[in-house]
Amino acid sequence: MRRKIAAGNWKMNTSKHEAESLIRELLQGTWGDEVEMIVAVPFTHLAWVGEWLGGDARIAVAAQNCHHMSHGAYTGEVSASMVVEAGAKYVILGHSERREYFDESDDLVNSKIRAALDNGLRAIFCLGEPLEIRQADGHVEYVLNQLERGLRGISLEEMDQLVIAYEPIWAIGTGVTASPDQAEEMHEAIRSRCTRWWGARKAAAIPILYGGSVKASNAHELFGQRNIDGGLIGGASLDAKDFLEIAKSF
Ligand code: 13P
Repeated sequence: MRRKIAAGNWKMNTSKHEAESLIRELLQGTWGDEVEMIVAVPFTHLAWVGEWLGGDARIAVAAQNCHHMSHGAYTGEVSASMVVEAGAKYVILGHSERREYFDESDDLVNSKIRAALDNGLRAIFCLGEPLEIRQADGHVEYVLNQLERGLRGISLEEMDQLVIAYEPIWAIGTGVTASPDQAEEMHEAIRSRCTRWWGARKAAAIPILYGGSVKASNAHELFGQRNIDGGLIGGASLDAKDFLEIAKSF
């Protein structure tokens, strides 16, 4: 059976104090044993979160980005191996906010996925179309293109280290969620494409998360779709009660 994942992307939010409270509240919560909870926190918080978790394996830590080179004169950047040393098991790559505000191309995202996998870091690879592409009915082709370019050169064995997240840009932070049917259409298209490339067994095992205004009130219906294996949650992951509710929505 495929893994179920509730992943929180904190983005550039939380003071140290707020982060500690959030983690402690999550640790007091309960959710299904089959659900993996992930928190993607700012770089500065990675090691602290590891300490607060105190070895509790129910929650995994993720970074929100890494550089594609292993080291060197890249002022202000953080490498995949540094992120691993700070305690992260996952890294979010290709988020639309990185693509938009930091000009990250499919090729760059591909190099970052390469760097992550080479360092034993699991990648949460984000895909998603802007509103005008959806309105022109080009969304499936657009996202499958991102998928193909982002995963170029990734081997069959490495696919086990990958989580895919479909996050339509028009649904991020807007309160407008993709309908379960809209999301399922894309998840199904992504999984079919993976089946074509890597065969049914591998493709069936890849977790594909939905992201974009997921809330406690809509999570259950979204997660109930055949090809939706969980969520990548922004705003609602900053409230422990909401996030725990979402983690129980499978
Ligand atoms: P929201 O849940 O705030 O829409 O953000 C989604 C997201 O970008 C997660 O990576």
